[in-house]
Amino acid sequence: MRGRNILFGLSGSIAAFKAAGWVHSLVKEDARVNVVMTRSATRFITPLTLGALSGNQVFTDMFSEGEGEPMAHISLPREADVVLIAPATAQTIARLAHGLADDLLSTAVLAATVPVVICPAMNSNMLAHPATCRNIATLRQLGYQVVDPDSGLLACGDEGAGRLPEWDRVRETLLALFSDDDLAGEKVLITAGPTREALDPARYLTNRSSGKMGYALARTARRRGADVVLVSGPVQLDPPPDVELITVETAEEMLGAVLEQAADSSVIIKAAAVADFRPVNNHSHKIKKAEAGSQLELVPNRDILAELGNNRQDNQVLVGFAAESRNHEAEGQRKLRSKNVDLIVVNDILGEDTGFDVDTNQVTLISRDAVQQLELMSKEETANGILDRVVGLLPGE
Ligand code: CTP
Repeated sequence: MRGRNILFGLSGSIAAFKAAGWVHSLVKEDARVNVVMTRSATRFITPLTLGALSGNQVFTDMFSEGEGEPMAHISLPREADVVLIAPATAQTIARLAHGLADDLLSTAVLAATVPVVICPAMNSNMLAHPATCRNIATLRQLGYQVVDPDSGLLACGDEGAGRLPEWDRVRETLLALFSDDDLAGEKVLITAGPTREALDPARYLTNRSSGKMGYALARTARRRGADVVLVSGPVQLDPPPDVELITVETAEEMLGAVLEQAADSSVIIKAAAVADFRPVNNHSHKIKKAEAGSQLELVPNRDILAELGNNRQDNQVLVGFAAESRNHEAEGQRKLRSKNVDLIVVNDILGEDTGFDVDTNQVTLISRDAVQQLELMSKEETANGILDRVVGLLPGE
């Protein structure tokens, strides 16, 4: 979002208070936000609030003196990278569908040549009315991007569709507009997180993987246009929007899910920290101290990545991870060859900014013909760096 210019239009719905939080989120991510409010929006939340949150003057009226910008309906969309309308009421949607230009927001949308993203929010009956359905269909035909509302309890007390969507889904829609579409048409299978190998109903063996790197890959691959399937071990992360999530617990379950998805995947990225061993017995009752010995008997799990490498589909790109505490590059080179993959992403699990559960990473990318060190960056930026290499490995590139 850094440096992006967002023209943020609010219309008159109780959901305007949530959209105010989105303005704050965008500003925290270093976007520049210019707010335009319809007259009804100002009945729900004040321009003062949005001015304070955006750090910029708020525009409410085409003809208001003192708003300082005589041609705001032209200059605001001209400067913007995207127009976001949230909440978009039935009235605003109808105005835009008919090309009306009777207030500042509708006029600015007509003047905009950048993408327009619309987030409807209203009572479910109003949303389901044929007139609203037709107007939303018209907006889509006009090339506007309409984010489907969420369902749930509405402010009026009804249950149904019409809630303003979660910010995460809207944020991803905006970021996809700012991203290349270079993975469009590819099915990308990603694994993430740890696995858990049960000893008894109370105890298991696991590792410290948080899943953040795999989830960042899933989000960024989706933004770049891929169809993404994410096979995830147990993690404390929100599911990325618009990604097929398959949750598993054990390495054996992960193997089953991956093999089911692998045949038609053009790219497979194994970011999961799969347990190498599992207990021989998973006891059905809690093991009692008095009965337990001091030794754990383990059997090896199958190596999912090595199996994929040995049974490659034509033109499939295979990416593995190597989380290392020493001999990083040598271990990466060994895994590249022993698992027969195209790219190994090596990271240092002992580094303060590169270890488990942090939001940054610094990785080395090892392919058959190159070793490339990426800078210390956020996990999402690192994911984009990895995907740049993946795109270069696709057939025809
Ligand atoms: N991997 C896998 N299945 C396993 C073990 C590992 O698919 N049973 C994958 C991981 O997802 C990762 C890569 O293999 O992409 C390397 O995992 P890592 O744990 O670093 O290496 P190991 O193969 O376990 O080797 P070592 O224990 O010698 O480090």
